Amino acid sequence: MPGTSSEALVFGHRGASYDLPEHTLDAYLRAIADGADGVECDVRLSRDGHLVCVHDRRLERTSNGRGLVRRQSLAELQQLDFGSWHSERPAELLTLERLLGAVREAGRPLRVLIETKHPTRGGRAIEPTLAALLKRFNLDRPDRDDPAGVTMMSFSPLALQRMRVHAPQVPRVFLMEVLPPGLRGGQLPYGARIGGPGIGLLRARPQLAERLLERGNGVYVWTVNEPADIELCHRLGVTGIISDRPGFVRQQLDVR
Ligand code: G3P
Ligand code: CA
Repeated sequence: MPGTSSEALVFGHRGASYDLPEHTLDAYLRAIADGADGVECDVRLSRDGHLVCVHDRRLERTSNGRGLVRRQSLAELQQLDFGSWHSERPAELLTLERLLGAVREAGRPLRVLIETKHPTRGGRAIEPTLAALLKRFNLDRPDRDDPAGVTMMSFSPLALQRMRVHAPQVPRVFLMEVLPPGLRGGQLPYGARIGGPGIGLLRARPQLAERLLERGNGVYVWTVNEPADIELCHRLGVTGIISDRPGFVRQQLDVR
C-alpha cells in the first residue's frame, strides 16, 4: 500500500559503492556497517567457471586488466587490482563465494541480491553454477519470511526461467529499465514475484509500483541515491531500495 515504505529494505548496490570501489569486500563491509538490510552484486563466470563479482563484460573500467572477464581464469583475475581506479588503494577481486562467506559471518541476518550478468544467448549459462553454489551454502531453499537469504535478479526473462529450473525456491526479481510490453497489468514473467524498475522508469510511471504491489508483488527500485528519489520510493511504498549510499538512504528513511 502506498505510503508505508518505512519498511522498505535497503540494499547496498555493488556494496557501498558511492564511497568505496564497487564489488570489493571493503565496499560490502561498509554497506553492512552502514546498516543495510542486504547487498546487491553482479556476477559473471570466469573462463574456468568461477562466479566472480564484476559488473562490466570488460575489465578496463574497474581494474588494471584488459579484455573480457570471461576470457580470464580465476587465478588471472586474482592478479588484478580492482581498487585503485576509484580509491587509490589496491583491492582484490571478490568471488561470490567469498561474499556469501562474509555475509554469513556478519553477525546479523542479511539479504543478498545476485544479478546474473553472463550472456543469456550463445555463452555458457551462469544460473546452473549459481544454483550449485547456493546449494552448497544451504541458501537454495529459503524460508519465505527469513530476513537472510538470497534473491536472484535479471533483466533477462531467459535467465529468470533458467533460475526457476535450477533453483525454483530462490526468489527472483525481474529488472526493468523501460516498461516491457505486456506488463501493464502487473504480471511478472517466469514466476518472478518482485519487479525491479530503475528509478527513471519509476519517476515516469509511478503507477507501475502501485500495480505491482496491488498484485502482491514486491518492488525493488534501483539505483536510488538522491533525496527526492528516496522520497518518491517512500511515498509509493516500495519494498526495497537499492542504493550506492545505503547508509544515507537508511538515515533519510529513519528521520521520518
Ligand atoms: O540492482 C539492479 C541494478 O544493479 C541493475 O543495473 O547496471 O547497475 O547492474 P546495473
Ligand atoms: Ca546490478
